Amino acid sequence: MHSARVVIVTGGGRGIGLGISECFARQGDSIVVADMDAARARQAAGELERIAGQTCLGIACDVAQRASVEAMVNEVAQRFQRIDVLVNNAGICPFVDIMEMTPQVWQKTIDVDLTGPFHCTQLVARRMIAWGTKGRIVFITSLADTMTAPAQVDYAAAKSGLRMEMAGFAIALAPHGITCNAVAPGHVLTDLTRHWWESPEGRAAIPRTVPLGRLGEPRDIGNACVYLASEEGSYVNGITLRVDGGNSVWNR
Ligand SMILES: NC(=O)c1ccc[n+]([C@@H]2O[C@H](COP(=O)([O-])OP(=O)(O)OC[C@H]3O[C@@H](n4cnc5c(N)ncnc54)[C@H](O)[C@@H]3O)[C@@H](O)[C@H]2O)c1
Repeated sequence: MHSARVVIVTGGGRGIGLGISECFARQGDSIVVADMDAARARQAAGELERIAGQTCLGIACDVAQRASVEAMVNEVAQRFQRIDVLVNNAGICPFVDIMEMTPQVWQKTIDVDLTGPFHCTQLVARRMIAWGTKGRIVFITSLADTMTAPAQVDYAAAKSGLRMEMAGFAIALAPHGITCNAVAPGHVLTDLTRHWWESPEGRAAIPRTVPLGRLGEPRDIGNACVYLASEEGSYVNGITLRVDGGNSVWNR
């Protein structure tokens, strides 16, 4: 067991972000849940505190708003005087056909999924550099970093861009000993995807889609994040770790 680190997970209030937070909490880390849903963030922090045995915080934060991210990072810095790990998990996918999509829906996806991680990474990395912290930053992308569909054009544009945003930060921050990597989840059952995977067609599609024959669980993604942030992962920088049960390599 290492000494308690401070780990910020954006969108950590539910779904994959909550699973990631629980995996770090089991390592004995202090978790900051930075989520737009303030009540959920606070509730998650309370549960995580019991798992970690460390102080955990729930902070209301909209990653798409620079001022909101600044306030969140300032609060964490004031409270803990350190930030060791950032997981850029918060993301949305409105599932609207590209030919019907309004410019507002398009812009929102780009603001949350692509620009949000820019705000968070830049502001957190500046603190890490100032404190001399050899920090770790993990970006949650998607199968949509290399594949798309008519109702996921905005999402795939953002997630494929996020893959290169991660790579650029990996190069920029390497001289400071800070690593950046991505985890690309396959299909995970959460509130974002439940409408499809719990439908009869969705259930029938699982064995035809995922070689391992099951959907991913939030902890599958969390375990990959813990590895990338671990001592054992310290020479891994700029990669995308695909955690998808073999989905992305199945040529059907
Ligand atoms: N579920 C999947 O199958 C799947 C697959 C690949 C990638 N992902 C990615 O994983 C991440 C989490 O997905 P999920 O399925 O857990 O989603 P989810 O909708 O269940 O949870 C997302 C969380 O992020 C928060 N959030 C949304 N917008 C925010 C914002 N602007 N600022 C701060 N918090 C915000 C929500 O309040 C919520 O707590 C996303 O980046 C998503 O693109 C999910």
